[in-house]
Amino acid sequence: MSLSAFLEQLEQLATEGREAFSKAVDQDAVEKARVKYLGAKKGLLKEVQKQLGKVPAEAKREAGQRFNQLKQDLQGALEKAAESLKGDGEAPANTKGAPPGLPDITLPGRRLRLGRLHPITQTIEELKDIMGRLGFSVADGPEIEDEWHNFEALNIPESHPARDPLENFYLGTAQVGQKDLLLRSQTSTVQIRVMEQQPPPVRIISLGRVYRPDTADATHYPMFHQIEALLVDKQVTMADLKSVLRLFARSYFGGDVHIRFRPSFFPFTEPSVEVDMSWGDRWIEMGGAGMVDPHVLSSVGYDPEEVTGFAFGLGVERICARRHGVRDIREFYRNDLRFLRQF
Ligand code: PHE
Repeated sequence: MSLSAFLEQLEQLATEGREAFSKAVDQDAVEKARVKYLGAKKGLLKEVQKQLGKVPAEAKREAGQRFNQLKQDLQGALEKAAESLKGDGEAPANTKGAPPGLPDITLPGRRLRLGRLHPITQTIEELKDIMGRLGFSVADGPEIEDEWHNFEALNIPESHPARDPLENFYLGTAQVGQKDLLLRSQTSTVQIRVMEQQPPPVRIISLGRVYRPDTADATHYPMFHQIEALLVDKQVTMADLKSVLRLFARSYFGGDVHIRFRPSFFPFTEPSVEVDMSWGDRWIEMGGAGMVDPHVLSSVGYDPEEVTGFAFGLGVERICARRHGVRDIREFYRNDLRFLRQF
């Protein structure tokens, strides 16, 4: 065998062998390539080595050197392949591991934590739903209000204690002689906004934030939510008010809720009542209500001889707290996920 024939054979084998090691995807494939090319008994390199004896004597030295060089090369390729796959193939024999680089879909999944709506938002959605079924549509108004909508149109004159700066968040934006703006202290503002916009009949609710400079405690917070309802039509009576409140409370609490009216006073309703609800063994004060004062009806251009109406305004935090047994409404605003995740 000529030197060139021997070298050609040798080079080709080396090329194949290097490729086999670099393409090996796991330790198994590396081992197979090792046996095939570098195997001590039947390895292909061993076969080529046998041919070395047939090479002419004067070419033996060169042929032998090249052979040793390529054998070392292949051994290097083997070690490199084995090293780069270290850590693979160590899975216990009874699991079906994924090929390297791909996720192992046989592993147990990692559970994602789902977010959820804030309990007050959930309550608002539910209240809209219940009142929607009773025929009330949703109206909206701004949280920054003027004194007309927050007070005057609601029959609360300049001298009334409800307008005291200590009872309200005035924004202090007014020039001398102008009316100031304030963060609305009640959603009754929306009653006026709706009646200014449309003739009777009216059947709306409005849900949103209101602001009062109260010190936070278990039942107060300087910002809270109200649900306001207004129904104006021919021959609306106090009995309608009580029926609607009772249906509403029963739908929300899902049990036999009783409604109690206590005489009260609001400048924009006459007569006025405090609304208590009993569910279980206690009466809870939920807000105010009454028959829309004729002055309010005329201030928006309605004829009090033609139509009458009722209105109520309840605290959403209290309603939600009552249903879920929350004893301190400050919990709603502490942003403690352990609390919020329960809803
Ligand atoms: N706006 C009153 C409050 O904030 C509640 C109320 C609403 C009373 C509607 C009567 C009618 O306390």
